[in-house]
Amino acid sequence: MIEQALQTEPGRLSQSSLWERQQDFFLREGAGIWTRNLVPRYITTNPFIARAYAEVVAAYLEDCGEAEGSREAPAYIVELGAGSGEFAFHFLRHFTRLHSESPGGSGFRYVMTDISQSTIGYWRTHKQLRPFVEAGILDFAEFNACRDRELRLLVSGHILDPAVSGGPQVFIANYVFDSLPQDAFEVRDGKLYECLPEADADALLPVAGDRARHNEPIVLTYHERQCSPNFYGRDDWDRILCSYGASVRDGAFLFPVGAMQCVETLGELSRGQFMLLVADKGFHNVEAFAGQRRPSLIRHGGCFSLDVNFHALGEQARHQGARVLHRSHDASHLKILAFVYGRDLAGCTEKAFERHVAGFGPDDFYNMMSDATRNARNMSLEAITSLLRLSHFDPVILVNCYERLVEILPAAHESTQRYFYEAMRAVEEHWFHLDPEQNPDFYLGTLAGAMGMDQEAVAYYRRAQAVCDSAGAEHNLGLSYLMLGDLKTAQRCFARAYELDEHLKEANLLSEKLEAWPHAGAVSGPGVEIGETRVSQLENGLVVLEHLDHPDIVLKPLLPCHAEAFYQQATPEILGLTRLPAFQSVEEVRQWIRALTSDARNYSFAITHRVHGVAGVISLLRVGDKAGRFFCWVSGSFMGRGYATASTCRLLRFALDQLSLDELFTSVLPHNERSARLLLRFGFHRVQMPGEELHYYRNGIEHLSDESATRHMLRLLGGNAKNIVVKHMRLEEA
Ligand SMILES: C[S@@+](CC[C@H](N)C(=O)[O-])C[C@H]1O[C@@H](n2cnc3c(N)ncnc32)[C@H](O)[C@@H]1O
Repeated sequence: MIEQALQTEPGRLSQSSLWERQQDFFLREGAGIWTRNLVPRYITTNPFIARAYAEVVAAYLEDCGEAEGSREAPAYIVELGAGSGEFAFHFLRHFTRLHSESPGGSGFRYVMTDISQSTIGYWRTHKQLRPFVEAGILDFAEFNACRDRELRLLVSGHILDPAVSGGPQVFIANYVFDSLPQDAFEVRDGKLYECLPEADADALLPVAGDRARHNEPIVLTYHERQCSPNFYGRDDWDRILCSYGASVRDGAFLFPVGAMQCVETLGELSRGQFMLLVADKGFHNVEAFAGQRRPSLIRHGGCFSLDVNFHALGEQARHQGARVLHRSHDASHLKILAFVYGRDLAGCTEKAFERHVAGFGPDDFYNMMSDATRNARNMSLEAITSLLRLSHFDPVILVNCYERLVEILPAAHESTQRYFYEAMRAVEEHWFHLDPEQNPDFYLGTLAGAMGMDQEAVAYYRRAQAVCDSAGAEHNLGLSYLMLGDLKTAQRCFARAYELDEHLKEANLLSEKLEAWPHAGAVSGPGVEIGETRVSQLENGLVVLEHLDHPDIVLKPLLPCHAEAFYQQATPEILGLTRLPAFQSVEEVRQWIRALTSDARNYSFAITHRVHGVAGVISLLRVGDKAGRFFCWVSGSFMGRGYATASTCRLLRFALDQLSLDELFTSVLPHNERSARLLLRFGFHRVQMPGEELHYYRNGIEHLSDESATRHMLRLLGGNAKNIVVKHMRLEEA
């Protein structure tokens, strides 16, 4: 409520308890508003707007310097209602750089103020603000823009006194003026009426934490009475108010009494010489009032917002000889104005305002960025990286495009990935840590992982867990260790992720995979105890057991580190025979192996020669609960030595004994008679699959008739075998 003596009457909007309720909300909820994300703040706190303000303020100080010559006294930049502190953080990061570059610039102090002691306490302990405090350039103060006439700085203990300091003063008020009392009016047929809200208006106020209904209007009901020409009893205000009777063609508007008084207070605090930068929703052009309905409140969590009548603020400022900088047209979301009181400018301020606000300004940026990231699913990596650069590395863009990035980063070219990575590192520096649910290191870890930067990803996830130990971070940590080939640690991570959240079935499956996977390579050939293996229950299982052993080779889990050797061995001839993807580079192979490795149902092995390394690959994919499909290839230089036979036999034993599968199947090209003969020797039966070019072979503990085998196989393949990517088995041995 307005506390200064004015010609006020009960019943006016500015006298309503709405404003007290609004203040109570900010006082009661304090820092929780920002850490729990109860009130939207993005548009006025992002790096783009903070940088634009920093440029304008630096230009203003330059103008002041030119007017005054050298000066000792520091400039004071005071932010009113600084809320989350994120704007100050971005502003200071950019401004300190500008300031250090400006020749002969004397010092400055930035003062963050608010009405809420809880919020101020939060800033004072925030680790990203502390370096500025330690550098002696950031201070804090409790300041109520409706009431206080003095700024007592909490760190230095000084009272801000222009008579003592003498340096230039800048005030910043983003989304604050609409929280200060306003009156409502309407013009009809050239007559001016005051709109008086119904007594119980404040019962309509939103409830804290109600995020679901953000931005909904709360419609107030009003009764009206005709205004007298000396409504406020102040000539300056009444002159502006009465002018609307003539200039507004039927429509409603607000009169910003709280903001007008606040500007007067700022004048007192600075001996009439200051620049004020304001951002809010609202209108600067009087034509915009035509046709407007009586004001409604817009709901935001536990508080509300209203438009601000910048026209009235501008008229008042001009009347007092101030310069008002603004765009010619009213911006769509956010209006930003600069009011320069008590100084003739040398021109730097105007130029900077034109370049950073009126030209392509924060409102343009917001329009573009919100539209682009709403459609992130169509964006290219290059476009996302460019947008990040345009935004000055805004973390919100990374978050909004996160799903898309996870999708496209793996396949991106290495140089594009590197370009993105640089941008991502810059985003990391700009990330103001506020909402504990939005853990930057988790996002960054996942993106690093998507680019195959597994060491970096591990470091990010470890840091993410230090802030918030989540099942998701543990799961992803497991994936990174898996890609690095540390299977033991990976298995522990997956098991722990599942312990933390039993809904993470995938983590459980991966943990099970990693328990079994490394144990396929063990050789125990002809001497294997029949009673210890279920292979003997397969048709011709004994023949399989006879071929288990081969002294030259071991089966090792196929990992990204095998990509290079795989690429060497998978010659065009092999690619043609096996129907592997037509890999064009090692990187493509690596991506393919990464996908197989992270698939909990896939068990792929590098057939590894004890001396010469990778000789081929054998791979098993679980299908349903009890079945597995496999394929195998051995490189040309290793053919004819029994490696594929021994590997296949070991895989069958692994599938039955370690994974408890009951049946295996594979498919071969019709002309691959040697493979077919071998499969038949190992007890596999051809299954008739209507319409299939490939020949399917199956063996299992349950022996099926031909007809039921076909039906069974069709069921396993989801009724459409063609939809399954076919990797046919190639056995070189006879
Ligand atoms: C909508 S928030 C805007 C916060 C921040 N400037 C931003 O752009 O995100 C309004 C801020 O003004 C503060 N505030 C509310 N009433 C105030 C008053 N009478 N004087 C000074 N600050 C006030 C609130 O505590 C809150 O931090």
